[in-house]
Amino acid sequence: MRTQVGIVGAGPAGLTLGHLLAREGIESVVLESRSREYVEHRIRAGVLEQGSAQLLRDAGVGERMDREGMVHGGIYLQFGGERHHVPMRELTGAAILIYGQTEIVKDLIAARLQAGLPLLFEAEAVAVRGLESERPRVEFVHEGRREELECDVVAGCDGFHGVCRESIPRGALRSYVREYPFGWLGILARVAPSTDELVYAHSDRGFALLSLRSPQLSRYYLQVAHDEDVAEWPDERIWEELARRTALEGWTLAEGPILEKGVTGMRSFVCEPMQYGRLFLAGDAAHIVPPTGAKGLNLALRDVQVLAEALIAWYRRGDRSALERYSERCLRRVWRFEHFAWWMTTMLHLDPGGDEFDRRLQLAQLRHVTGSRAAATALAENYTGVVAV
Ligand code: APR
Ligand code: PHB
Repeated sequence: MRTQVGIVGAGPAGLTLGHLLAREGIESVVLESRSREYVEHRIRAGVLEQGSAQLLRDAGVGERMDREGMVHGGIYLQFGGERHHVPMRELTGAAILIYGQTEIVKDLIAARLQAGLPLLFEAEAVAVRGLESERPRVEFVHEGRREELECDVVAGCDGFHGVCRESIPRGALRSYVREYPFGWLGILARVAPSTDELVYAHSDRGFALLSLRSPQLSRYYLQVAHDEDVAEWPDERIWEELARRTALEGWTLAEGPILEKGVTGMRSFVCEPMQYGRLFLAGDAAHIVPPTGAKGLNLALRDVQVLAEALIAWYRRGDRSALERYSERCLRRVWRFEHFAWWMTTMLHLDPGGDEFDRRLQLAQLRHVTGSRAAATALAENYTGVVAV
């Protein structure tokens, strides 16, 4: 098998890249280790920056997103028994769009298959070779057979646990990691959201987040231990804890059937550079942020926008300069949002090893960010993604 761009991973990064390239007549093959059923049902992020939504729209896959997605002009920060509104649109002119990553993936898969472009499910890349040559190869296993995809370049869009990053020689990469001593228990519930916008709640019992997927589906999170056993969390306990952490006079959290629950640990991770020879890493394959700033999906989309532009310049005009600067361009934005995600996380979570001094600092920061227009604007610029990097 032979193609121009070999794309490993059919998450938002890989699928969007394939789409942006196809529009310019550049061929690609997408390899995905999981089944279509699996990738279309796993519940992931749900907040799109305005620029991310525009990218999908420009790529021609924004139709359902614009019909079903919900524009939010602000968020709430709750602490000390009060809920404060951060009017992001008023402060920055930009808003966010609530639309599930799972839905984006479904739309991208449908568009790719409809165009008759190659996308192989249950095709697991096992090795990437010849990165320093002009003909890199992805070895993969499909329907029990070992096969090879020969390409001009490989896009490693295979997430944090993929094989692409691992195929770069040790010594050529440097990783930066921060582990957090907590995780999130996330639920999807069939109940109308109880608030008009997202609520990030700081409380003495730990962090809680009220989000949503649609007017009928709520997505809620609780800070728990990083290795928390979901079995310890029957539905009643989840509702009780959510209610306590988000309690507000004159307001109640509506409950409904829980459709899904799971625990994820939290970490920050960046690998530098994001390229080696003819391999380019994008999205979670290159960096992870804790979910508190809702940046993972947006960073993944931005990487492939930069990569697609660089590949188009190379194929069209033989100009390699943008490809050579790919990592440098992406990393500036990645580190801006690594900082934002870390900052939101440390401002809002209960640190199991922290003390009262830490709590006072958090509350001082929260009062500042909700009380000062300048500080609120800084948060809003980062959250909506319009910040200068
Ligand atoms: N071969 C083929 N596919 C693979 C392999 C492999 N060896 N390893 C992993 N994959 C697939 C995964 O099954 C997954 O579908 O690569 C895909 C990577 O997709 P994502 O994990 O969604 O990563 P990305 O596209 O970078 O999007 C980042 O996902 O985790 C969230 O918060 C994150 O919202 C962010 C987004
Ligand atoms: C979500 O809806 O899944 C979500 C929203 C905001 C976050 C993280 C996750 O910060």
